[in-house]
Amino acid sequence: MLRSSVLSLTRPRLATAIARHGFHSTAFAMAPKVVATRVLPANAQARLEKENFDLKQWKEDSSMPRETLLKEIQGAEGLICLLSDKIDKDVLEAAGPSLKVVTTLSVGYDHIDLATAKKNNVQVGYTPDVLTDATADLTVLLTLAAARKMKQGIRAVEQGEWREWRPNWLCGYQFAGKTLGMVGMGRIGEAVARRLRAFGISRTLYWGRREKPELHEPLQAEFASFDKLLTESDYIVACCAMTPETKEIFNYDAFKKMKRSAIFVNSARGGVVKQDDLIRALDEDLLAGVGLDVTTPEPLPTNSALLKHDNCVILPHIGSATIEAREVMGEMCIDNVLAGIQGKQLPFALKH
Ligand code: GLV
Repeated sequence: MLRSSVLSLTRPRLATAIARHGFHSTAFAMAPKVVATRVLPANAQARLEKENFDLKQWKEDSSMPRETLLKEIQGAEGLICLLSDKIDKDVLEAAGPSLKVVTTLSVGYDHIDLATAKKNNVQVGYTPDVLTDATADLTVLLTLAAARKMKQGIRAVEQGEWREWRPNWLCGYQFAGKTLGMVGMGRIGEAVARRLRAFGISRTLYWGRREKPELHEPLQAEFASFDKLLTESDYIVACCAMTPETKEIFNYDAFKKMKRSAIFVNSARGGVVKQDDLIRALDEDLLAGVGLDVTTPEPLPTNSALLKHDNCVILPHIGSATIEAREVMGEMCIDNVLAGIQGKQLPFALKH
């Protein structure tokens, strides 16, 4: 069952290949082996299937099982993976010296062992920029949803709790004159801050890898300590990369420092939050609302205590899930693989 789910395209169309490359048929045995752990968005998939690759692709609507990945990667020159695939030392070593490029259909890369990739001369590619708008839109959606009690509202309508109009029912918070705290002011963080300014945010505190003076005037922004950001912000939004420095940075101490009226949103990685501490903070009413697009683990088990909290809106990691973004992400992965197997610099390379 597992074996038959891997689509193998080892015999590309003879006529096309001869016309394109003047290959003799024996050259087909040398088509570079490329592993793809999942089917790509439609147009990118169609293109991938036309490339002269010995393509090993998991065709099921599920993650490529680890044992299949460990087997298929042997002798591969390229790998197209997802953020849900753990590309660790075992996978990189199983590939052997043939592996030239790993490219992920994501901007996040915490699932890839960069040190081993570097040691083994494997280039790593990703899909920055193209998903910035999609992810920023969804982050704003979560911020609004958490601030305006959207989950409680939808539940009330669906469960027949919508009664007469009530002045004190489901009142949330607005944005005018408020302070936004951005944890991570990279491409996505900046796009979120710009969008929230349009809702009336008057001041932005940010904490991240480096100060960005060029943003100070347009966003009324100030590079702040993590503590200042926690204590002074009305909206605290995590858009940072997951690194040893940011791992579980949102712990009980951090939640305790936030205003009781604060809205906390995470569209970065579940691992930047110590999730049991977030549950405790919600149990103790330390926060007004929470919006999450990422959790630990993913998928979130349906018995998670997070789901019991009406003021915690959770989406299933769909930040970049627009047709537009995902198609281009697929194309970028193919461009990266093509460059990588030819020993060229990847067009969308992660510097590591
Ligand atoms: C999504 O989380 C991504 O890293 O692209």
